[in-house]
Amino acid sequence: MTQRELPWEPEIIAFCCNYCAHSAAALAGLKRMQYPSGIRIVSTPCTGKLEMEHILEAFEKGVDGILIVGCLEGDCHFVDGNLRARKRTDRIRSILDEIGLGAERLQMVNLTDTMASAFVQYMQEAVTTVGTLGPNPLKVSENKESAGKS
Ligand code: FES
Repeated sequence: MTQRELPWEPEIIAFCCNYCAHSAAALAGLKRMQYPSGIRIVSTPCTGKLEMEHILEAFEKGVDGILIVGCLEGDCHFVDGNLRARKRTDRIRSILDEIGLGAERLQMVNLTDTMASAFVQYMQEAVTTVGTLGPNPLKVSENKESAGKS
C-alpha cells in the first residue's frame, strides 16, 4: 500500500541528530524534495541522547510512529551514540511488541549528510508502514474516553 492509498495520515515524529540526519533533511528541503506532511522533525544533539522515556512518552501521548535518524555507524559525532541508540531502539521495539503497540511503529535508520533522497525515502516508508498498522491504539482509546466524558 502506498502512502497515497492510505485512508488516514499517520502522525510521525522523526528524531534527527543535529549532524548527518539534520543536514540530510536540510538538503532535501533545499532540493525541494517532498516528504509526507504528517512527519514532525525534532532535533536531538545525537540519537544517543534520546532516552527510552522520551520515546515511550511520545507513544503514550498518541504519536502513531517514531523514526530515529542518526549518522552512519562509525560516523557518530559522539563516538558511539548511534550504537547505543540502536540497542535502545531494539529494546523499546520489544516493549512495543509486548504491550501490543507493535515494534514496527519504531524504526531507526542511519545516513550521511548527503543522503537527501534516502532521507525522503525513509520518511515515506515510515508513513506506509505505520499507515498500514493503523492509528496508535493509545490515542484511539484516549479519544473514546474523552468522547464519553462530554
Ligand atoms: Fe549523529 Fe550521534 S551525532 S547519531
